[in-house]
Amino acid sequence: MSEVRYDIEIRTGDFKFSGSNSTVHFVLHGTKKISNPIEINSGIKENLVRGKSHHVKAKEADVGDIWQIEIRKKDKLFSPNWLLDYITIKGGGKEWNFPHYGWLLDGVFFIREGHASLAKDDAHKDVRDNEVAVGKENYKWALAYKGLLCNNIYGKPKQLPLNEKWNINRTHELKKDVKDAILSVGWGLIKNLADPWNHLDDFAKVFQMHMHTPKIVSSWKDDETFGNERLYGATLTQFERIDEIPKKFAVTDEHVKGLLRKGETLESELKNQRIYMVDYEVFDKVKTMDGRYLCAPMALFYFNKKKKFVPIAIQLYQEPNPDWNPVYSPNDPEYDWLMAKCVLGNADFGYYQAITHYVRAHLLCEPIVVATNRTLPSNHPVHKLMKPHWKYHLGVNVIGRTDLFNPKGMVIKIGPVDYDTCIDLMGDFYKKWKYEDLDVRSWLKERKIPGPDVLPTYYYRDDSIALWNAV
Ligand SMILES: [Fe+2]
Repeated sequence: MSEVRYDIEIRTGDFKFSGSNSTVHFVLHGTKKISNPIEINSGIKENLVRGKSHHVKAKEADVGDIWQIEIRKKDKLFSPNWLLDYITIKGGGKEWNFPHYGWLLDGVFFIREGHASLAKDDAHKDVRDNEVAVGKENYKWALAYKGLLCNNIYGKPKQLPLNEKWNINRTHELKKDVKDAILSVGWGLIKNLADPWNHLDDFAKVFQMHMHTPKIVSSWKDDETFGNERLYGATLTQFERIDEIPKKFAVTDEHVKGLLRKGETLESELKNQRIYMVDYEVFDKVKTMDGRYLCAPMALFYFNKKKKFVPIAIQLYQEPNPDWNPVYSPNDPEYDWLMAKCVLGNADFGYYQAITHYVRAHLLCEPIVVATNRTLPSNHPVHKLMKPHWKYHLGVNVIGRTDLFNPKGMVIKIGPVDYDTCIDLMGDFYKKWKYEDLDVRSWLKERKIPGPDVLPTYYYRDDSIALWNAV
């Protein structure tokens, strides 16, 4: 049988402790035959070095098209973990790629050639079935939060499968960021001990050492900046365009006098599609912890003649009542209006943390990760397409559950509501959420957000539609 010279490139990942001095052999599984074991690392010298490629040449009988590599790994000393990025093999004028981008412990592993394949086109159905069976063992359904099917079986980070664990480098980065922040704030407090804080602007003193003063410090009280937070900030999915002002919002033309274009009224500007609303009805009558407060505010925003998106009215509670629940506007005294904006900002923060960030960005994706690993083999096109997007997703979610969102977690400590109430709010959102909400076009339509001709500076809409169309 003819022999082929195989050039094998093995790329080791570039994280801390990625390299390995284990004994490693490859066996090439080809369409014609299976090769002899090829020595990749003898275990004497560390050839599998962090961030470097290792090249091995091997003369073997022609195995045909290589569809899988069998990796036999045995640890010699103290580095059982090896982060393998990819393997490339050239031989007989052909090239095969084996992406992995994951850790390998000791044992025998199989990595399939990189092309995606559906079951009907795959000659190795038994391998697919086995991968799915292993997936079902490793990824199981559980309910860690009542009403939220968002959780896999892992209660602690160390219980996670190796390749789902939060990356050690990111942990170091995160800890360094926290340390820098504490040092900076601490230094700011010490430096200003003899200089008491009397004014809102004094908060800028916390920005010391590693924490540079952000630009927003000089403009956070401006209406324009407050409006920009809707278009470009963390709350950019929180507003909708309205055709009429709901009865519960007692705003009148008198409140917004001088704020609209000349000759226009609320009614005419509603027709011109320039009035938008933010409504935190979800916080209505929500029970707060003793000594803590949470309003259920609503606000009107207006696209003004300077082409700026600005707040024009805020009501702190859902029930209209001029005696205890007045409508605030920029026509009120400066600090009344500023406080009304702060109340809305507080509701923004609470909603953003619990729903926009935690439920939408973290928890909604978790069942998709679990279901994929339980049902689709690694070379299924959908599995391949999605895998890079949820790298460390389960890992960071488990940390979220153990450190932040639990009865003693930091989020509950600083927020206005207790743990059970917070979970109920999250569950309420989850019940109303629809699969179609992931389609940005239908989501924008439902919120009646106009196109760039009417609201030209809402780049989230433009970028996400471009991305959606590209996908
Ligand atoms: Fe996050």
